[in-house]
Amino acid sequence: MHAFLLLAFELVAHRGASAAAPENTMASFRAAWAEGADAIETDLRLTRDGRIVCMHDVTVDRTTNGKGKVAELSFDEIRELDAGKGEKVPTLAEMLAVVPSGKQTYIEIKIGPEIIPQMKKEILVSKLPLGRIVFIAFDDKVVTALKQALPTVKTYWLFAFKKKDGKWNATHDEVIENLKASKADGLDVGFTKESAEMVNAELAQKVKAAKLDLLVWTVNDAELARRALDLGAGGITTDAPGSLRAALSSHRSPGR
Ligand code: G3P
Ligand code: CA
Repeated sequence: MHAFLLLAFELVAHRGASAAAPENTMASFRAAWAEGADAIETDLRLTRDGRIVCMHDVTVDRTTNGKGKVAELSFDEIRELDAGKGEKVPTLAEMLAVVPSGKQTYIEIKIGPEIIPQMKKEILVSKLPLGRIVFIAFDDKVVTALKQALPTVKTYWLFAFKKKDGKWNATHDEVIENLKASKADGLDVGFTKESAEMVNAELAQKVKAAKLDLLVWTVNDAELARRALDLGAGGITTDAPGSLRAALSSHRSPGR
């Protein structure tokens, strides 16, 4: 017979509550807190003149009424743009200022380590305790550089299992080796119905055995979220934290 435990997990609002408001805007961050998210996730890039802004894509084309690469536009040019429903593109400092007591921010670095010195300065000036910040990055060299710059901040390597010509892009052991080599504190892994073939109990066991954390993104489907919790995921990044929390509120999983 199983002992049943209510699992502890964090719901992280992907680019803010991006199902409810334009992604990576102050409106989506506010919506995330209003929906009861434990954390907001945002993407950082540098403007041409070295300012840090919250923007997912290389260009502003998809998410604003402007055109061009973030790295080739000045901060003033970017601030003129409409990021949806009259919202401006936020700065890192503005985002850090609205993380309420007891909540966290997951900061994804979308470029190389060159952003780290300026980002570190802004984080230290913000007075947001380092324990309320988590770094994430797909680039393992950025993960290593982040651990060197701010060793106490939890830093997770982002990875997505993908199948090409019938073959997965990495084995479990390769992922674990890379996590260790990069000095990551854990794996934040893409979780879809397809990749669940690789993001399975065997991977979860290996991550746990390496004393690393396991988190998943970007999950909006309650059934998939339940599967992630059954694997022991400590965090689920979602576009819709409010409705996913409601769907999961009665989730119970066999105790391990
Ligand atoms: O939280 C991880 C997730 O944000 C990574 O994917 O493309 O939304 O930045 P992406
Ligand atoms: Ca992201």
